[in-house]
Amino acid sequence: MRARLGWVIGILLAAVVVLPAAVIAWQMLRHEEAGVAPPVRDRNAQLAQGRYLARAGNCMACHTARGGAEYAGGRPIATDFGTLYTSNITPDKATGIGQWSADDFWRALHHGRGRDGRFLYPAFPYTSYTRMSREDSDALFAYLQSLPAVVRTNQPHALRFPYDQRVLLALWRTLYFSPGSYVPDPSRSAQWNRGAYLVQGAGHCSACHSARNGLGASVAPLALAGGVIPALDWYAPALHGGELALGRWRDEDLAALLKTGVSARGATLGPMSEIVGRSLQYLEDADIAAMAAYLRTLPPVAANHLPPTAQPEPAEAERIMKQGKRLYGDHCADCHGGRGQGSAPDYPPLAGNHAVADAHPVNAIRAVLNGGFPPSTTGNPYPFGMPPFGPQLSDQEVAAVVSYLRNSWGNQGGFVSAAEVNRYRSVPLD
Ligand code: HEC
Ligand code: HEC
Ligand code: HEC
Repeated sequence: MRARLGWVIGILLAAVVVLPAAVIAWQMLRHEEAGVAPPVRDRNAQLAQGRYLARAGNCMACHTARGGAEYAGGRPIATDFGTLYTSNITPDKATGIGQWSADDFWRALHHGRGRDGRFLYPAFPYTSYTRMSREDSDALFAYLQSLPAVVRTNQPHALRFPYDQRVLLALWRTLYFSPGSYVPDPSRSAQWNRGAYLVQGAGHCSACHSARNGLGASVAPLALAGGVIPALDWYAPALHGGELALGRWRDEDLAALLKTGVSARGATLGPMSEIVGRSLQYLEDADIAAMAAYLRTLPPVAANHLPPTAQPEPAEAERIMKQGKRLYGDHCADCHGGRGQGSAPDYPPLAGNHAVADAHPVNAIRAVLNGGFPPSTTGNPYPFGMPPFGPQLSDQEVAAVVSYLRNSWGNQGGFVSAAEVNRYRSVPLD
C-alpha cells in the first residue's frame, strides 16, 4: 500500500513539477537559429519595402498609444488574462530597440523571443509573423531603425497571476507555437502564393478570424473559421467559402471593402475598420487582389460551435417581427432602404449582409447600439456614419429590430433576446 502511494506521489510530482520544469529549461536553452541575412542591394528600396511591410503588419497601430508618439508603444491590449502594453520599438537606445541587431529582431518576429531571450506574449502576433521571410524581417528592421528615436519606458503589463509569469510561456510555446516559414505551393499561381504569404504572415488575419482556446491560442489558424475576439466582444466571421460566402462576392466588392471599408455588400465595423484604415488601405491593388484570390480558395469548414439561443414560439416571433418592422420603418429605412437594399457605398445594404445574419449577432447588436463610421480612407475620405440608437431604443426594441433584420429580405439568422442586447450595452467601444 505504502509503496503504491509512493508511486502515485512520484508520478504526480513528475507531472506537476519535474515535467514542466524540464520543458521550461528546454525552451529557454533552445538555440534559435538566427538564419542568414540576405545581402542588401539597394538601401532605399529596402527602406521602402520595410515601410510597406510595417503597414501590411499594422505595427504602428498597435505600437502607438492614443495621442502618443508613433511606434513608441504604450497602447493597452485587452485580453482574457489582463492588459498588455505594447513596447517602444523606436530606435531609442535605452527605452526602445536601438541596441538591437537584425538578428535580435528576427528572433522576436520569427521566434517570439526578446533581445534578452525572454519569451514574448502572443498578443504580439508573432505566431503569424513567423511566416515572414528573413529578407522582409530585415527590411522592417531597417525601416524601424530609420525612424526618430523616442524616449518612452515600457509600461509593465497588468496580467493576472499566473499569466504574469513569463517563464510559463515556455509551456504555452511547447503546446501551441513552432516557428514556421511560408512554403510556396507550386501547384498554385504566383498571385495565390503572394496572397497566402500576406494573409498568413504580415496580415495576421488569423489573430482575429480564428476562435481562441482557453489559453488564448488560435484554433486551426489557417482555416480562418471565424470566432469571437476575446475581451473585445466582436465577432470576426469565417473568411472561407462558408459564412461570409466570399464565393458570391464580386472581385471588385471584396477589393473595395478591404481598401476602403465600404462596398456593395456591407461596410466594416469595429476592429476591422481599424485594420482597413491603418493597414490594408495602403496595400497595392495587386496585393489586395492576391489576398482575395487566396481567401476565395479556402475550403469551408464546419462553423465554430456557438451556444444555441432560445427561439420564440411562432406567435411571439410574429409579434416581434411586426414590432421590428415598425421600428425599422421609423428609424432605419431612410438610410438602409425600405427593403434593406441600402445605397452603397454610403449606406450599406442590410439584405444579404453577413454582418446582419452572421452566426453570432453581436456585430449587428453593437452597430445598432453604438452606431459608427467606416474608416476614413483615400478611396472614401468622408465616410457616412450611423447614429447610435442605444440611448433612444430599449433593449427589447433593439432586440426586435435586429431580429427583424436577421429574418427579412432573405436573411436567415436566429432571433436575439433583450438580455443579449443588454450584455453589449456596457462593453467598451473599441
Ligand atoms: C495586436 C497588436 C500588435 C501588433 C499588430 C504588433 N505588435 Fe509588436 N508587440 C505587441 C505586444 C503586446 C508586445 C509586447 C509583448 C511582450 O511584452 O511579451 C509586442 C512586442 C514587440 C517587440 C518586442 C519588443 C521588446 O522590447 O521586447 C517587437 C520587436 C515588436 N513587437 C515588433 C512589431 C512589429 C515589427 C510589428 C508589425 C509587423 C508588430 N510588432 C505588430 C503587440 C503588437
Ligand atoms: C443616418 C443614416 C443611418 C441610419 C438612420 C441608420 N443607419 Fe445603419 N448604418 C449606416 C451607416 C453609414 C453604416 C456603416 C457604419 C460603419 O461601417 O461603421 C451603417 C451600418 C449598419 C449596420 C452594420 C452593417 C455593416 O455592413 O457593417 C447595421 C446592422 C445597421 N446599420 C442597422 C441599422 C438599424 C437597425 C437602424 C435603425 C435602428 C439603422 N441602421 C439606422 C447608416 C444609417
Ligand atoms: C483586429 C482583428 C482583425 C484582424 C487582424 C482582421 N480582421 Fe477582418 N474582421 C474583424 C472583425 C471584428 C470583423 C467583423 C466586423 C465587420 O464586418 O467589419 C471582420 C470582418 C472582415 C471581413 C468582412 C467584412 C464586412 O464588413 O463585410 C473581411 C472580408 C475581413 N474581415 C478580412 C480580413 C482580412 C483579409 C484580414 C487580414 C489581412 C483581416 N480581416 C484581419 C477583425 C479583424
